[in-house]
Amino acid sequence: MPSFALQSLDDLESLVDYVIYLSVRGEVERRMLTAAIDELDYGAEPPEDGLRLNHAVETEGSQVVDEILSDVAKSWSEAPERVVSVPTWTPLAGQALKESVQRGKDSFHGPIANCVGCHGPAGNGNAVTLDFDDWTKEFSTRIGLTPSDRQAMRPFRKAGALTPRVVKPRNLQEGVFRGGGDPQTLYRRISQGIAGTPMPAVEVVAQADGKGLTEDQMWDLVRYIQSLANGL
Ligand code: HEC
Repeated sequence: MPSFALQSLDDLESLVDYVIYLSVRGEVERRMLTAAIDELDYGAEPPEDGLRLNHAVETEGSQVVDEILSDVAKSWSEAPERVVSVPTWTPLAGQALKESVQRGKDSFHGPIANCVGCHGPAGNGNAVTLDFDDWTKEFSTRIGLTPSDRQAMRPFRKAGALTPRVVKPRNLQEGVFRGGGDPQTLYRRISQGIAGTPMPAVEVVAQADGKGLTEDQMWDLVRYIQSLANGL
């Protein structure tokens, strides 16, 4: 993915809008798949006309599409007001930094965060995992299929189901972050998880309770991730 820094601001903003549109569309489609199975009882036979998830004519199916669409569009339009706030970041250096990174490393390998289970002992994504994105998992688990079972998936694939997509835990040594590598963004990503992927959210707690991490422990973890990315 190259840099598009030379594009005009207007063009960049249009691109952002289009990417958001694609995300809205993807989310709507995923929710439609769920509604088809859970609410409208789609089965092996094609659904009745009135239950088709078709927006063009007004039916029970089109109402479901309307509800999903307005829900998803609303959550995107309200997103700027729901940005998760992050506590103050204190840059550290020397011995203090070293100790923080070490504590972060301990958390990374510890039972609460258990980052190591997916990202591997060296954070390079080398743990053996076979997991799929939510697009694949949501539809396959609802009908009791294992996405890696090609034989069982074949009839659904033939009927138009998506190709199962394996999600690989990130190699944190590469230092490439979708959400940005600044401390605040990393904090947010770790505390919120990554929607649509197996990357879970860590609960941030006021006091160490064996279930979540405190704000200080979160910052230690962020510093450890940064140290991996910087090859320290
Ligand atoms: C169940 C598996 C799993 C666990 C546990 C897990 N991760 Fe992840 N992590 C992933 C996957 C999968 C991705 C890649 C998601 C994607 O492709 O967008 C990821 C991505 C990331 C990223 C990249 C974020 C970005 O903006 O690109 C960071 C940083 C990260 N994980 C840190 C952590 C930390 C720290 C922990 C422990 C608190 C942790 N992960 C625990 C699976 C996991």
